[in-house]
Amino acid sequence: MSDNIYDPEFVAGVFDRCSGAYRNWSAAASFGLIRSWRRACVNGLNLPRKSTASGVDLMAGTGEAWPHLFARFPNIAEVTAIDISPGMHRQAIDRLHKDREDRITHHCANMLTTDLPSDSAEFAISTFGLKTFDAQQHLAFAHQLNRILKPGAPFSLIEATDPVGWSLRPLYRFYLDGVLPQIERLFLNGAQDFTMIGAYTRNFGTGSTVMEALKAVGLTVEVQYFVGGSAVRFSGFKPG
Ligand SMILES: C[S@@+](CC[C@H](N)C(=O)[O-])C[C@H]1O[C@@H](n2cnc3c(N)ncnc32)[C@H](O)[C@@H]1O
Repeated sequence: MSDNIYDPEFVAGVFDRCSGAYRNWSAAASFGLIRSWRRACVNGLNLPRKSTASGVDLMAGTGEAWPHLFARFPNIAEVTAIDISPGMHRQAIDRLHKDREDRITHHCANMLTTDLPSDSAEFAISTFGLKTFDAQQHLAFAHQLNRILKPGAPFSLIEATDPVGWSLRPLYRFYLDGVLPQIERLFLNGAQDFTMIGAYTRNFGTGSTVMEALKAVGLTVEVQYFVGGSAVRFSGFKPG
């Protein structure tokens, strides 16, 4: 297998191995913050509260964003969940979202090359799926997002960042790069997969390559940072 951490096959392997523990570990490791960031992502979606739209959750994982999505927009007709990891889809289907399965369609595919129909999605969300792409892949992602969205449709994306200007950054980095890997070694059978988050967030930086890519393909976008710049939300729409 490739040791390029941005190779989609490598990334799929990481998440397949993490899938069983992903939900609880991501909540615990972020001290619950990840939940409020997923909610912030959904809140960034400019849809009417009674919307009956159908849309996409990109790099959906185990579907952690869906409770927030359906709480804010209870009448949403359908969500197509795109993820490259069969293990993450399986967790979503088997364990977590049985009560929503009539409104979720699972699409196990590489977001960067998926042939989902053009101009089809009435909204798009993505929570924490951007950091495993490099700058070139951010551009490919933005092209795909722009292609899949209907003209006028909104999107909202959130990702963890490296809070470069934050006074607490040294502590935050120590936690990501030093503490989490130790906990993982001790409590997750020596697995190294969650440890990858340190490298991915450091390389992701402030998310500037996502912002540039979204603008380059013609999407209208606003950016907002959270908690000292440790997460960033890109929300906007495809001009119609
Ligand atoms: C950190 S998880 C986020 C999952 C979920 N959205 C959440 O909020 O918990 C990142 C997800 O992106 C998926 N992913 C990474 N690269 C992908 C690609 N090229 N195409 C589709 N999914 C991808 C991974 O399999 C993983 O499930």
